[in-house]
Amino acid sequence: MSRDLPKKPLHIVMAASEAVPYAKTGGLADVVGVLPQELIRLGHEVTVMLPGYRSVLESLPTREITLHFTTPVGSVSREGTLEEVCVPVGDGLSPLKIVVVRCDPYFDRPGLYQDEHGDYHDNLERFALFSQAVLRWIRYLSERDGRSVDVLHLHDWQTALCSVYLKAGVRGLAIPGVKTLLTLHNVGYQGLFPGEQFPVTGLPDALFSPRALEFYGLVNCLKGGIVFSDAVSTVSQTYAKEILTKEFGYGLEGVLADRREGIPGIVNGIDVNVWNPETDRFVPASYSVCDLSGKKICKRLLQRELGLPVRSVPLLAAIGRLTYQKGFDLLLEALPEMVLLDVQLVLLGTGDRDLEERLLEAQSAYPDCVAVRVGFDEGLAHRIQAGADMLIMPSRYEPCGLTQLQSLRYGTVPIVRRTGGLADTIVPFKPSTVRANLATGFQFDTPTSEAMLSAILLAVSVYREQETWCSLIKAGMKADVSWVRSAAQYEQLYRTVLSSPT
Ligand code: GLC
Repeated sequence: MSRDLPKKPLHIVMAASEAVPYAKTGGLADVVGVLPQELIRLGHEVTVMLPGYRSVLESLPTREITLHFTTPVGSVSREGTLEEVCVPVGDGLSPLKIVVVRCDPYFDRPGLYQDEHGDYHDNLERFALFSQAVLRWIRYLSERDGRSVDVLHLHDWQTALCSVYLKAGVRGLAIPGVKTLLTLHNVGYQGLFPGEQFPVTGLPDALFSPRALEFYGLVNCLKGGIVFSDAVSTVSQTYAKEILTKEFGYGLEGVLADRREGIPGIVNGIDVNVWNPETDRFVPASYSVCDLSGKKICKRLLQRELGLPVRSVPLLAAIGRLTYQKGFDLLLEALPEMVLLDVQLVLLGTGDRDLEERLLEAQSAYPDCVAVRVGFDEGLAHRIQAGADMLIMPSRYEPCGLTQLQSLRYGTVPIVRRTGGLADTIVPFKPSTVRANLATGFQFDTPTSEAMLSAILLAVSVYREQETWCSLIKAGMKADVSWVRSAAQYEQLYRTVLSSPT
């Protein structure tokens, strides 16, 4: 009987350091930009809390101040405000509330975490203050109008300290009834700071211990979150297993393995309205799984835009941050052999200076085969997804990955390293998967240029068998890469966390 009763809508607060379209350096922003909307569609009330970076203040000008706060940070006191704004998410749906934590000396800067000299020296102060402000707002809500928050959903190290403040209960920040879920988007980034900086957090000294935030003499924010959150999740099932190993756990594998109830992996979706080849305003010709002719036009125009010869050779694309994680150095290594295959390669990304330079040199060395665009260009990213034949993701590790999901939707066949979310979202080309029309891409195991090259070689030979290639494209375009299923999984996880004893 009780099973038929409608489930109570939840009040979820999502605290994060990035969200599209307000502030973005990586995939985290895409997740926090879209998941809340899908949860609202499921009937829940969702509030997103963001630091008041310059880009946030500029893109959300009509905020209302709800609360003034003062927080001691080490020997100084910082003043700030909590400012609310409601953003419509769709007809007939309640709006999304965004609460901006404004503290201009910390956040009104050009970058999110760093400038051209490196990371901001006060990042621990900045995110400790942000985390405390999140809890102040939740406390204020319950005091002002008795409205309780069910789940505080945290993302990555920048918000992990919220769980520590809640459990430690310092500065009146223990709020009964609030459960926390910490989602790990990348265990390679932990928020590590010199041990001497610990006092700026205002946490009791006893928490600077190996069972809490101490990590080889450093402060480790992510570790604190993993130890003190009610639940911890990550963004694919394979990554959830990988982070329990030395190779992927970056020193936290033991702490992660200590979580008794395990770490579920929920793969991300993408915004299927923004990434839709039938309606995409950035691409020159629209197409769909029923009529792919527009994709050919997109390819020709992309080759022209990039200054590559307009030829019917396989056009491979690589898009993303130029970091060690993404493995683009393997592409560079493989380039002399790749060009012998008579393929073209377009690469769009920004990051590591040395890699940027080497890629630009490669472009000069092979101008007819290689086009490199350094920077962040949303429109070009869409045109590449629409015009390319294949996407290559040689990641050393990839918690989920979003680019391959965009590729599936655009009929661009992914060639990926079998790791994390890449292993979970791409059905590899094999006789059995091809026969069943299930294959959506190619996978390789070791992060070496040789392994990657053999996968590219296989993909290029399949590309020439039109019918098989078309079945790969179609299976990919039909795959569900939306947030619908994943949002329902998060809802389930929230309810599990809520019903678990504290
Ligand atoms: C990080 C990960 C990426 C994941 C994204 C969103 O950027 O590196 O794999 O897709 O977070 O969860």
